[in-house]
Amino acid sequence: MSQQLESYQDEIYLTGLTGAVPELPTGLHQLEEAAQAVMAPRAFDYVAGAAGSGETARENLLAFRRWRIVPRMLTDVSTPSYSARLLGTDLNVPFLLAPIGVLRIVHPDGEPAVARAAAAAGVPMILSTAASTAMEDVAAASGDGQRWYQLYWPKDRAVAASMLGRAAAAGYRVLVVTLDTRTLAWRPRDLDHGYLPFLEGVGIQNYLSDPAFQAGQVTSVADDPQTAILRFTQIFGDLSLTWEDIPFLQEHWHGPIVLKGILSVADAQRAAQAGVAGIVVSNHGGRQVDGAIAALDALPAIAQAVGSKLAVLFDSGVRGGADMVKALALGAQAVLVGRPYVYGLALGGQAGVRHVLRALRHDFEVTMRLAGLARLSELGPDCLQRRP
Ligand SMILES: Cc1cc2nc3c(=O)[nH]c(=O)nc-3n(C[C@H](O)[C@H](O)[C@H](O)COP(=O)(O)O)c2cc1C
Repeated sequence: MSQQLESYQDEIYLTGLTGAVPELPTGLHQLEEAAQAVMAPRAFDYVAGAAGSGETARENLLAFRRWRIVPRMLTDVSTPSYSARLLGTDLNVPFLLAPIGVLRIVHPDGEPAVARAAAAAGVPMILSTAASTAMEDVAAASGDGQRWYQLYWPKDRAVAASMLGRAAAAGYRVLVVTLDTRTLAWRPRDLDHGYLPFLEGVGIQNYLSDPAFQAGQVTSVADDPQTAILRFTQIFGDLSLTWEDIPFLQEHWHGPIVLKGILSVADAQRAAQAGVAGIVVSNHGGRQVDGAIAALDALPAIAQAVGSKLAVLFDSGVRGGADMVKALALGAQAVLVGRPYVYGLALGGQAGVRHVLRALRHDFEVTMRLAGLARLSELGPDCLQRRP
């Protein structure tokens, strides 16, 4: 694993001597605006949009603003190391790519472009069940890159088991099971376009390519895509799932299991009792329960309660290195980056994702150094102050 720090900043300044400037914004919070200028309106709204009033999505960002880093001086940061090992996965820096479906709606190169960029940067990718490219093809693009698989747990157990078997065979090492999407939220920005990509057959490639899914079809997927799409809508979510169903996952997946979408201490404790390896504290980027608690506000108590028993990951609102520092200081062992890499993909395909990964890594590493922190183990709540 590379211990070298990212040198993107030097590269940009040196290239700047020739008059060249970066093609994409280096301020990651500016990516959304830049992406909007190049994306089809309905694709942009699908990515940027949220549930209901959008209040939770906004609150995710505001929650970070309520915490301030307290930099320390005269500490030796000459040989820092911010690498970590999490559930058997090596992290150069403690972030992974969040599972995001239907990436071909933002760029024709879709998930394979993200997989190539992530593998080259040494950043693990979590592939969504709702990918617009079959998981085996994404694995091929990822090569020897580290990859995890995210399951939307379908109602049809044969399809669920089949997907898990395929993911293991294709080299996905950790299973992330997303619990917060029992069904789709009321999302006005998609509703106003009358747009759901799945109904156009985008984002269901893992289903269409699945032998158990195909076996349940009277007509072949190729001959009768509309019937296949209809069946996808019928099996997508299982509203009857409870904690009692977790053993099904453990029976069909032999690596670490991480539950995504945990926002309460009670559920985090339940996850620990259920014997899973980790959780992602997340509200799905504000896309599910409108009015839900900001994910960052949920993090400290959850990390305090289960951090010694479970890997605690975090997402929803990470937009730069300082946000990463704050989430890690509040108890996350790693964060997932979501919308920013999708905007990078929209703006520049694989190169755009590479830019976002490099910028985020450099921003994180330099923020750590300037805050006087040479190791991840030095992060803790005492590195932050809550804004009055
Ligand atoms: C366009 C879009 C699609 C998403 N698709 C999935 C998905 O297929 N599976 C999943 O578990 N989470 C999905 N998420 C949620 C992300 O994994 C992550 O929780 C969220 O993006 C974090 O919020 P942030 O992007 O605002 O930081 C999606 C998010 C977006 C924006």
